[in-house]
This record gives sequence, structure tokens and C-alpha cells, in this order.
Amino acid sequence: MARKSSSKARIIALGKIRDKRGNLSVIQAGKGLPFEIARTYWIYDVPGGEHRGGHAYHNSQELIIALSGSFDVQVHDGTEEKVFRLERCDKALYVPSGTWRRLCNFATNSTALVIASTPYSPRDYIRDFAKFIDLKTRGEI
Ligand code: TYD
Repeated sequence: MARKSSSKARIIALGKIRDKRGNLSVIQAGKGLPFEIARTYWIYDVPGGEHRGGHAYHNSQELIIALSGSFDVQVHDGTEEKVFRLERCDKALYVPSGTWRRLCNFATNSTALVIASTPYSPRDYIRDFAKFIDLKTRGEI
């Protein structure tokens, strides 16, 4: 059974420790995050015109950060779609569970860092958009 999330996708400012030697941003467990960190992965070497994602999760929540380059994250909450252009490594996009999300329009050499609230589980995926809308309409996710 999914734990329904009432929150919306939004940008979270991570802060930047400015230094003439180079800037630094930090994410620390238990400090200002909407969830406990269970997993981190990253997406890179994306060929021009390709996309990643195109699914929703029953349970997993995510933070997505453009560590380098830029890309769009299309999110759909079952009612409306929004597009967030990620291009700064001191900003994270929070994606609640029960949100359709798709990463696209990658600039060359972009790296997307994803921090997730659950271990990897193929059973957590909803890969069919019509099924996603149906589950949202019935309030099951
Ligand atoms: P997937 O999440 O399906 O990528 P996308 O939605 O962008 O197409 O993952 C692609 C492959 O990587 C799939 O075979 C499962 C594997 N994978 C893991 O083993 N662990 C993970 O944490 C993730 C995210 C994917």
C-alpha cells in the first residue's frame, strides 16, 4: 500500500558555501530534507534527444539535482503537468511519491543526481501513464 503524499513537487534551495577556491553545497541526513535518505544514484552520458524516467513510484520520494549541465524534469501530479529546468547544483527538485516524472532535454555532459527515500524496488514503479492517472483518480496513490 502506498503512503500517499499530499505535497507537491517543488524546488528546495540547498544553500551554497561560497569560497574563492570554489563553492560547496551539502545535503546531510536529518537536516532539512523531506525524507530519510535510503539511496543515491546518478544519470550521465545521456545522448542528445534521449530521456530518462517516464514513470511514477508508489512510495519513493526523490530529490533531483543537476550536478552539472542542465535538463528538464516534467512532473505530473495526476491533475496538471509542470516542467522544472534544473541547471544549478545548489537547487534540488523535490518529487513526492505518486508523481509521474520524466527527465529530458539534457545538455551535453549533464549529470543528474537522484537521492531517494527507498531502496530500489521494481515493484515500486508505475510505468503506464494511463494506469498512473487511474490510480490517482481513485485516490490509490
Ligand atoms: P530505471 O529506473 O528503469 O531507469 P529509467 O526510468 O530512467 O529508464 O533504471 C534502469 C535500470 O537500472 C533498471 O534495469 C534497473 C536499474 N536500477 C537499479 O538497479 N537500481 C536503481 O536504484 C535504479 C534507479 C535503477
